Amino acid sequence: MNTLDAIVNRKSVRSYTGEPTSKDELDTVLKTAYASPVAMGKYGDVSLTVISNKELLQKLDQNAQQTFHTDRSMLYGAPTFIIVSAKLVGSPADNSAYSNGATIVENMNLGAVELGLGACHIWGVIAALNQNQALLKELNIPEGQTPVAGMTLGKTTETYDPRKVDTSRIQTNMID
Ligand SMILES: Cc1cc2nc3c(=O)[nH]c(=O)nc-3n(C[C@H](O)[C@H](O)[C@H](O)COP(=O)(O)O)c2cc1C
Repeated sequence: MNTLDAIVNRKSVRSYTGEPTSKDELDTVLKTAYASPVAMGKYGDVSLTVISNKELLQKLDQNAQQTFHTDRSMLYGAPTFIIVSAKLVGSPADNSAYSNGATIVENMNLGAVELGLGACHIWGVIAALNQNQALLKELNIPEGQTPVAGMTLGKTTETYDPRKVDTSRIQTNMID
């Protein structure tokens, strides 16, 4: 798929077959993360945690379900969940850590589209995780970093068909 089609046809996939993501697929998706731009080129300030362990996935999901008082899965049965962590630096107005997380996730999401894998940018599970120190400890996030973004990944029966994008949905002011 060409780049523009991949961007336009990408959609959040929230249903997975449950089959494990293969090593080759994961390597390709991770390569897109390593190719991501990061603020000031400080790649040492970000890290990835790739979780395929079913027990841990269940713990993360249950933690989010408890936090948000829901019984629906917030990881949608995906076999892989990738967490991006980053060093929170500067003033609260300095958003580069969260921007790094979002940029890396979007790169991986487009990589998933190219491979025909399902993926969804996930904030809810990350927000809940950041409130649970015991669970955070289990993940061995590098010292000084905080989870800032996440993405589910896995095989799906969904396909990326041509999508019509509503070009009026983001207010756009043109200043000539
Ligand atoms: C920062 C961010 C956080 C998101 N968090 C979640 C989430 O926790 N759970 C979820 O199901 N979708 C999540 N989404 C997906 C959005 O709901 C989705 O991108 C949006 O509704 C547009 O739909 P589309 O991705 O299919 O185009 C998130 C997307 C972004 C960019």
